[in-house]
Amino acid sequence: MDMDYQKFIQEQVEEIRKEVGTGVAINAVSGGVDSSVVTVLAHRALGAKLKTIFVDNALMREGEPERVVKVFADMGIPVEVVDGRKEFLSALRGLTDPEQKRQAVTDTFYKDVFSKAVKQSGARFLLHGTILTDIEETVAGIKRQHNILAQLGIDTEEAYGYKVLEPLKTLRKDGVREVGRLLGMPDSVVRRIPFPGPALAARVVGEVTEERLATVRAATSIVEEELGVTGAFQYFAVLLSDYATGIRDGRREFGQIIVVRCIDSLDAREATVRELPWEVLHRLSRRIVAIPGINRCLYDLTPKPPATVEYI
Ligand code: XMP
Repeated sequence: MDMDYQKFIQEQVEEIRKEVGTGVAINAVSGGVDSSVVTVLAHRALGAKLKTIFVDNALMREGEPERVVKVFADMGIPVEVVDGRKEFLSALRGLTDPEQKRQAVTDTFYKDVFSKAVKQSGARFLLHGTILTDIEETVAGIKRQHNILAQLGIDTEEAYGYKVLEPLKTLRKDGVREVGRLLGMPDSVVRRIPFPGPALAARVVGEVTEERLATVRAATSIVEEELGVTGAFQYFAVLLSDYATGIRDGRREFGQIIVVRCIDSLDAREATVRELPWEVLHRLSRRIVAIPGINRCLYDLTPKPPATVEYI
């Protein structure tokens, strides 16, 4: 039977109201579909009792903080930008292990930047955009998702001092999009391609530094510009930690390598690789190797499984 999403919205709005009562709730919006839909859902339930922040973690795509603030302002929802750039960069310094990097992002977010914002706001409730796929893959041990705590037996009330509400936890991506549409959210948000919680830290293999972030950010902008028209499920750039020899301006150069990934999928549980025209691949390659320090551009042909979507 098809899910009745209007009813789902009604039920979740009531549930959020009941849980939060006369209290105050806070949520962090990343600009992705899941956290954006939670923001609008919770705003519908709580109005001014909801405080929404955007944490600038230095790991975002080009122009992201401004874009997010504007999109929500247009929907009448105020979003406050919290500057956590220093905290995240220093937590990631020297780390190369994927799980340690994910953990550093999670800890910096919850224990440091976000918990300060929560304390200042006096909120006891935190709304989070966890979806069913996040839970399944985390419980299956495939990957430690950024936003799963309760499922791992971590009591957020005890560990961090607030209760987490996850109104989307029974939905998959397509369901979340449907809810967003019914909430009247613009296509630019509802149809936005997924972006991982650890953000560009998940797109940098090896150490995450400001310089390497700038490189992958530039490549990401190019990939999004070139592949937006494909309508693919997800497309992005990854900076590898290997180097390869190349020639630039007549000189030998030991340069960095960017991988482009473009996949089709329903819900990210499985994915196939989009067969892009050579012309598009060549254009991508030409533009990406023009980024300082990059002298190779690869296209990833691996479906999921056996690969995951992200590289860390
Ligand atoms: P993987 O790499 O596990 O990705 O095949 C599946 C989908 O989830 C996204 N992803 C994440 N989303 N927090 C998120 O909110 C995360 O830690 C995370 N890791 C991966 C990924 O972009 C893909 O759409």
